[in-house]
Amino acid sequence: MASTSTKLIVTGGSPLHGSVRTSGMKNAALPILFACLLNTETCVIRNLPRVTDIDCSLHILETAGAEIRWIDKDTVSINAAGARYGLSDPSDVQRLRGSLYLMGAELGRFGHSKIARPGGCNFAPRPIDQHKKAFTSMGAVIMEGQDFIWADSQNPKEPLEGGYVSFDIQSVGATANAILAATLAKGYSEIENAAKEPHIVDLANFLNACGAEIRGAGTSTIKIRGVERLHGCTYEIIPDMIEAGTLLVMAAGAGGDVTVTNVIPQHLKTVTAKLIEAGMQIEDLGDALRIRSDGNVAPAVVKAAPYPNFPTDMQPQFAALLSVCNGESVIEDNVFTSRFQYVEALNRMGASIQYDSDHGRALITGVKYLTGAKVTATDLRAAAALVIAALIAKGESEITGIDKLKRGYEDIVEKLSGLGAVIREIPE
Ligand code: EPU
Repeated sequence: MASTSTKLIVTGGSPLHGSVRTSGMKNAALPILFACLLNTETCVIRNLPRVTDIDCSLHILETAGAEIRWIDKDTVSINAAGARYGLSDPSDVQRLRGSLYLMGAELGRFGHSKIARPGGCNFAPRPIDQHKKAFTSMGAVIMEGQDFIWADSQNPKEPLEGGYVSFDIQSVGATANAILAATLAKGYSEIENAAKEPHIVDLANFLNACGAEIRGAGTSTIKIRGVERLHGCTYEIIPDMIEAGTLLVMAAGAGGDVTVTNVIPQHLKTVTAKLIEAGMQIEDLGDALRIRSDGNVAPAVVKAAPYPNFPTDMQPQFAALLSVCNGESVIEDNVFTSRFQYVEALNRMGASIQYDSDHGRALITGVKYLTGAKVTATDLRAAAALVIAALIAKGESEITGIDKLKRGYEDIVEKLSGLGAVIREIPE
């Protein structure tokens, strides 16, 4: 696990140049790791990002009785033949939101689940009603205490029954959990108003590679015919579109010429479109994206909404970039309307951003420059926004709360240093 006792010192003003490789996608890897619990044969997962949320998830699987073996830096083998349910350590589960996938996986494999209430980035209220709806639609009975949630199939000796799940809203987590619960359920399941994110498709592709029968992932209707068992496979996680997008915005803000490799440009369409609107030159190289920026930023209106719209996980980074636009910009988040905790820190660095809580948006009046300051990251993407602001700013910034950044960005200090950024990590 990463230490919580380091901070970043960043001296802004150096343009970025060169090439940087995107790691595997955290938010695809999380449900895929928990999906390994459904399998009694060995799964080899490649292109895993080495970030703390992944380390913590592997620890949860290990506590459940799975055998975990690292094969190389980003490849792990998992055998969950000896796993049981209800063994997770609450302190692990409370570290990340993705631990909620343990519930779908335990229910799917054992017909029972008991987990602590999950934690994660708390930038907004994060209800779980849609997760519960998915499980109850498949015949599970749910009980909730102050600290724990229990779910059991109606007949304790039988697996879940396939069911019809009609979500009230598009939820990435609830869609993934419905898939996890339905994969081994008896009979047929249909998920309506499913999330369409690439990580949902990746989860379905992984499970299908293990013998599951899941169709329609990436559309709003997912159909699953339950199978009796899965077999082992080797699977490579997709590249992290949010990490790639963040690196592009870093280059946009600092200026320079950067090629981000190991990307699926299609996943980043809305992000690159906004970067072009903000005055950047973007070149699609097939499995890489090149960005050229002279550091001048045009204003833009960014509206985050579920995929294929602009991702909520990229709006804080754009707020940092647009804080130096030559005009007025708007950032609106229709997924998490209160995900604007970073505004205060950006304003401390000289930005002029007003958060309008009634409408879930921030109004940005571009300033000529930001100034280095001491700031603290409140959550993962807010941390990325502060690094972007620090790369743009005049002078030195000190960013604390770096444990948040390490939840989702692999080797970020090394990657940025390799591009010429003046950044170092030191003990707090
Ligand atoms: N929602 C409900 N009820 C539910 C579930 C969700 O009302 O039962 C609402 C949420 O409050 C939100 C909306 O539905 O308004 C969408 O939330 P979603 O369930 O899609 O989010 P999530 O699964 O909790 C994942 C990512 C987040 C990312 C969101 C949206 C993981 C582990 N987390 O969260 O990633 O912001 O989808 O794309 O995959 C991050 O990586 O920084 C991060 C926070």
